[in-house]
Amino acid sequence: MGRSMTYEATYSFPRYLSAKKTVDDRALNRNVFQSMARELTAAGTSKPLRVLEIGAGIGTMVERLLDWGLVTRATYTALDSEPENIAEAARRLPEWGKDHEYTVETAAAGSIRLRRGEADVLVTLQVADVFDFMATVKGSGDWDLLIANAFLDLVDIPSALPDLLALLRPAGFFYFTINFDGGTIFQPELDPLLDGQIEELYHDTMDRRIIRGKPSGDSRTGRHFFQHARSAGAHILAAGASDWVVFAGPDGYHGDEAYFLHFLVHTVGLALAGHPDLDARALSDWVEQRHRQIEQGILVYIAHQLDFFGRK
Ligand SMILES: C[S@@+](CC[C@H](N)C(=O)[O-])C[C@H]1O[C@@H](n2cnc3c(N)ncnc32)[C@H](O)[C@@H]1O
Repeated sequence: MGRSMTYEATYSFPRYLSAKKTVDDRALNRNVFQSMARELTAAGTSKPLRVLEIGAGIGTMVERLLDWGLVTRATYTALDSEPENIAEAARRLPEWGKDHEYTVETAAAGSIRLRRGEADVLVTLQVADVFDFMATVKGSGDWDLLIANAFLDLVDIPSALPDLLALLRPAGFFYFTINFDGGTIFQPELDPLLDGQIEELYHDTMDRRIIRGKPSGDSRTGRHFFQHARSAGAHILAAGASDWVVFAGPDGYHGDEAYFLHFLVHTVGLALAGHPDLDARALSDWVEQRHRQIEQGILVYIAHQLDFFGRK
C-alpha cells in the first residue's frame, strides 16, 4: 500500500464498491441465503425468474448470485442512480462473464446476456433513481424478487417500503441485505473516549441525513426493519447478522480491502469535519492514525449489519 493513498483527496466510489465485494461475500448471512434458495426452488416456475435490484452499484450482487447458483434462468434488472456505477457495471460484467466461462452477448441498450449450460440470464443495467423508477412503474410492478444490498439504510424505510413492495408480484420475495445496525468498531483503540465519540457522532450524521428534503437514513436500520416490515404487511422469513469483519492476515488485507478501509476512514473524517462537538485537530489526527494503521496492517474494522429475506 503506497503512502500516497493516505493523502488522496478523492477516492473512487466504484473502486470502493469493487473492494467491498469480498467483504460482503464473507458477511452475507448464509442461513438467510439458504432460506431464499429453498423458497425460490419451492416456488420455481418454468418461467425465468424476474429479479430487480435497486441501488445495485457496479453490479457485484449480479456476479455473486450467478456465482452462488441462485440466479440461473432469469431476467435481472439492476438500477443505480449514478451513471458512473452503471458504466462500471457495463464494463466489468461481460469481462466477469467471460472469466467464468459464460457466453456473453451484449444486446440492446444496456442489456447483457450470459449463458453457460442451463444458465441463461439477461441483465439490464439502468441509470435510474429508484423513486423516479417507482413513479414510472406506478405500483404495478411484477418482479418475483426484489434485492437491495447496502442500500436501505440510505432511505426512509417507513415511507419507501410500501412502494418498494409494490414493485413485486403478489407473494413476491425480497432480499434486503447488509443493513447497517449501529455498530462501527475500529480496533485497536486509540483513545477510547475519542473513539466512542467519533462512533456516536458518525452514527448521528446518518440519522440526520436529508435527501430530497426527506429524512433518509437510520443508523439502526437493521433492528428497526422488523417493525417496518410488519407495518408494510411484509413477512420476514429469515433474518440474521451480516457483520463486516475486515482484518489483515499473514499476507495482508484480502484483495483490495485496504482501499475499502482507507475509503471508510476518509468517509468518517469527511462526515465529521467541522463538527462543533469535535476538536478539529483531534479528528484529523485520528483519521491520520487510522490510515497509518491500515498501512501497517493492524487496523481491524467491524460493522454490525443484518440481512432479511421475506415475502410480500
Ligand atoms: C452503499 S452503495 C451499495 C451499492 C451496491 N448495492 C453494493 O452493495 O455494492 C449504495 C448505492 O445506492 C445508490 N443509490 C443511492 N440512492 C439511490 C436512489 N435513490 N436510487 C437508485 N440508486 C441509489 C448509490 O449510487 C450507490 O451505488
